[in-house]
Amino acid sequence: MELEDINTVAVLGAGNMGHGIAEVAAMAGYDVTMRDIKEEFVQNGYEQIEWSLNKLAEKDQLSQDEADAALERVTPLVDMAEAVADADVVIEAVPEQMEIKKDVYQELEEHANDEAIFATNTSSLSITELAEVTERPERFCGMHFFNPPVRMDLVEVITGAETAEETLETIEELAEDFGKTPVRVHKDSPGFIVNRILVPLMNEACWLVSEDEATIAEVDSTTKYGMGLPMGSFELGDQVGNDVSYHVLDYMHEVLGAAYEPAPLLEEKVENEELGKKTGKGFYDYE
Ligand code: CAA
Repeated sequence: MELEDINTVAVLGAGNMGHGIAEVAAMAGYDVTMRDIKEEFVQNGYEQIEWSLNKLAEKDQLSQDEADAALERVTPLVDMAEAVADADVVIEAVPEQMEIKKDVYQELEEHANDEAIFATNTSSLSITELAEVTERPERFCGMHFFNPPVRMDLVEVITGAETAEETLETIEELAEDFGKTPVRVHKDSPGFIVNRILVPLMNEACWLVSEDEATIAEVDSTTKYGMGLPMGSFELGDQVGNDVSYHVLDYMHEVLGAAYEPAPLLEEKVENEELGKKTGKGFYDYE
């Protein structure tokens, strides 16, 4: 599959990342199907895309006509077969748990076009292990966007053990066509590059607060004003989603060892479903 053969992109998952990726693909002119398991999830994702496109139009980052046309290119669906039947590339952005993703790939493989490329937006999980569930490990790779996809430039393109060079090149070209900067990650290791560095930083911030060595306000002021990050560590955690950070850490803890143990404060946030901006409450309140 080459870039010029790609017309339709299916995005599995309409959450923060899924709807953001669908928006980016639609803005680049692709026909997009966005699939989730419940009607309310796809509708919510669709409304988020509409909000975001209108916001970008308000700020003259695209015209209102372009925003309307991009929204029209997105079809929200619940039915897997319908969502992937015509897709040339399927980008999967379902919850960051190995078993959930494997189940989705099994179902996807039954319905997808034989030539389609599967690209996973996993933040940390083994590309090789996910690819093994499918019958196309050579047409399977990581395509990792950052939150919020419409604003973040980087896409990590990660190779699995059996990914073909042609697949990686096509996905890199697709990322460029989406207006992003792809960076090839040659080793399929937990958290790849960005999350291997960034998520432990956010976790260390949680340990500082868990052990009463600093407050959230102190940590966020120092990360923002001293370390030059665009957001404080806790603000970023709320942006990414505390469940996402937790699952990434939990996996790195299991595979890489004790240094990645999630801090009690982070566990508590997940248990209380205080997941960040998406639930209206995380380390901060958003209601
Ligand atoms: N679409 C459209 N507009 C959006 C938006 C979206 N998805 N998200 C936010 N905005 C709007 C806001 O509503 C706000 O609008 P108003 O000005 O009208 O209030 C505006 O954008 C804020 O934009 P600014 O340019 O003023 O703000 P900013 O310069 O601070 O940029 C940011 C915002 C790009 C999110 C910036 O804060 C940033 O880069 N933060 C760090 C994000 C980051 O590091 N992400 C990666 C996390 S790691 C990850 O994602 C990987 C993983 O697997 C866990």
